[in-house]
Amino acid sequence: MVTQQQPRLIRACRGETLDRPPVWFMRQAGRYMSEYQAIRGKTTFLDLCKNVDQAVEVSLQPWKAFGVDAVIMFSDILIPPEAMGMSLEFTEGKGPVFHQPLRSVAQLDDLVMPDVEQSMGFVAQILKTLRQELSSSTDTGLIGFSGAPWTLASYMIEGGTSRNFMFLKQWMYNQPDALHRLLGMLTTVVQQYLAMQIEAGAQMVQLFDTWGGLLDEEGYKTFIRPYEQQIIEYVQSNYPDTPITLYVGGGSHLLEASAETRPTVMSVDWRLPLDEVRRRIASIAPDTALQGNLDPVAMTADATVLEGLVKATLAAGGKTGYIFNVGHGLIPQTPRENVQHVVDWVKASSAKPVGVV
Ligand code: CP3
Repeated sequence: MVTQQQPRLIRACRGETLDRPPVWFMRQAGRYMSEYQAIRGKTTFLDLCKNVDQAVEVSLQPWKAFGVDAVIMFSDILIPPEAMGMSLEFTEGKGPVFHQPLRSVAQLDDLVMPDVEQSMGFVAQILKTLRQELSSSTDTGLIGFSGAPWTLASYMIEGGTSRNFMFLKQWMYNQPDALHRLLGMLTTVVQQYLAMQIEAGAQMVQLFDTWGGLLDEEGYKTFIRPYEQQIIEYVQSNYPDTPITLYVGGGSHLLEASAETRPTVMSVDWRLPLDEVRRRIASIAPDTALQGNLDPVAMTADATVLEGLVKATLAAGGKTGYIFNVGHGLIPQTPRENVQHVVDWVKASSAKPVGVV
């Protein structure tokens, strides 16, 4: 039997030294692409997430257009809360809206613990189809994802994107037990949801804790980390061959605390340089790879400025256990030629011998 070489993405997740890092972008599919707009213009965002053929097509668009090393399934982190019975709408301008946000403890009794296959089987179908579509490109990695419990709870309680997170924090201060109950329910759903994705063909899964940096270290260790940890441990013990990446948005002050969860990969934002991140987690999570961390807004800068920033990021990330990415999702104003430039520059970095940048 000929053993198939793992995709570049997975080799980097495993800490291998490569001629160049793999490159992909959080939110690589979306409004900055005319191909996306053409499909999105004919449907709603939620319907697009649930239409297997269209979601597959949109997932593949950045791979076809720019030659990124990974395809992330097209979906949204708020699909599981909807499957738990919360009515969800994406509105132009305002973003996601839950029409009946969780504002009383009694509402927890109305949440459903969904059968993930039954309620979110379209996500498995999208991944299965993507694996088929990518079967002749064995060097491309396929990524699944979920929101982490804290970030999902923030949307469910606030009802959408928030400035002060007042309702979420009121739960935390006034009824911590109820918040823990909700976070525990979400943890079970996320575990089953990621298991379904891995069984459908996801080769790496990413846990997005976009609002994970909202609290101080004590709060993080009480309300956020235990649930990230349970999900990471669940994936690592049940699916040891599937890397799990933890993204804690705005989490520089929690670097060491979050490294203690020992994810396969830590995806970090631009607030700390990658070489400093690596130094600081070396003794805590020595085998953990890094992903990041270009400022997504830098992707809108002049090409010469951007090139300098990409080179600095490549130098700080190195060639061992490193995945080139942005520190948060691409924004709709990103010029597509800059996306192509960045992919090309990262790929060209293989021309230089290891150690020289
Ligand atoms: O990365 C990818 O290309 C895969 C698709 C993906 C989307 N959302 C598509 C999307 C992924 C991985 C997400 C994750 C997500 N969704 C997060 C975590 C990552 C992060 O950015 O912090 C969060 C917090 C959400 C919730 C969400 N979805 C918000 C706040 C919004 C509105 C803001 C916005 O950018 O419009 C969305 C909508 C959304 N999710 C769009 C896309 C392509 C735009 C919807 C449209 O086409 O109208």
